[in-house]
Amino acid sequence: MSELNEQGNVLLTLLADGEFHSGEKIGELLGVSRTSVNNYIKALQEIGLDIYKVTGKGYRSAVPIDLLNADKIKQLSKNKMVHVEQILDSTNQWLLDRIPNLQNGQSCISEYQLAGRGRRGRTWISPFASHLYFSFYWRFDSGIDKVSGLSLLVGIATVNALEKVGVQGVSLKWPNDLYYQGKKLAGILIELNAQATEACHTVIGIGINVRMPPEQAKLIDQPWIDLHHLTSASVDRNLLSATLINELQTLLPQYEQTGLQPYLSRWFDLDCFLNKTVNLLIAGKSKQGICRGINESGALLLECDGQVEAYIGGEISLRLAKL
Ligand code: BTN
Repeated sequence: MSELNEQGNVLLTLLADGEFHSGEKIGELLGVSRTSVNNYIKALQEIGLDIYKVTGKGYRSAVPIDLLNADKIKQLSKNKMVHVEQILDSTNQWLLDRIPNLQNGQSCISEYQLAGRGRRGRTWISPFASHLYFSFYWRFDSGIDKVSGLSLLVGIATVNALEKVGVQGVSLKWPNDLYYQGKKLAGILIELNAQATEACHTVIGIGINVRMPPEQAKLIDQPWIDLHHLTSASVDRNLLSATLINELQTLLPQYEQTGLQPYLSRWFDLDCFLNKTVNLLIAGKSKQGICRGINESGALLLECDGQVEAYIGGEISLRLAKL
């Protein structure tokens, strides 16, 4: 399934205004019985839309629904390689499946992911039209050596894009999370298709919490925040997608030439753990030290007993130490 059926779309368009609509009117519009209206509403609720019923008034979406629009994103980003779907397994997978035919800068964005994935095999909860599920393809002709720092560069690009649409105060947690005051706002998952001696194909997946429906929030097992809670103005997902495309399109060619070196100071400014005592979890073991930022390869610098050691990617996660 890649989109809602015709009735589902009609119902979605009707409810998008956030106003009440009676079951009777909806039935007439869809040409179905009241029982079927109930089933269509349930189907929308099941994919994460926050729709409720008030007796005597009808059905209403708790928030206005602002849908993704490929033409708007193309216009705002001046990039024509934008693919928008209503329903996909995973935007990363959509690009991975098409690698031989892709050009640098192809993006894929979806309203809903049936099997959105996060790091370490986790599921990325992806309710319909609530957040941004964004993937971007880039090929590194120089091979795999640039990949170790890539998620850090993408973190910086994402913060830049958020700042450009008016969201301030977001920080980065090594190696690839965006945080706001100790709560996760967004995550990055980079997937590769590479041979040791050839070009390296990367799919850069970014998930940003925009407006978390209350039912979906119950499924998340860590502190989170969404853009709706940290800005007074509502963030347009089309504008955010276009700004993200522009930012990646500008930074990636530069990064290919220079690596992380020119971005180190920006990382140090955004690093939420810089000079704090942290625990580094490696293969189930914990190592305590002071976070001293990153090096040019994107490795974490941890000071332990006066010695600074570099730790690179993999199954390492970072927690603020409780002292
Ligand atoms: C993480 O923090 O665990 C990374 C989350 C990455 C989620 C995004 S949403 C768009 C893209 N498609 C996926 O299936 N995952 C990434």
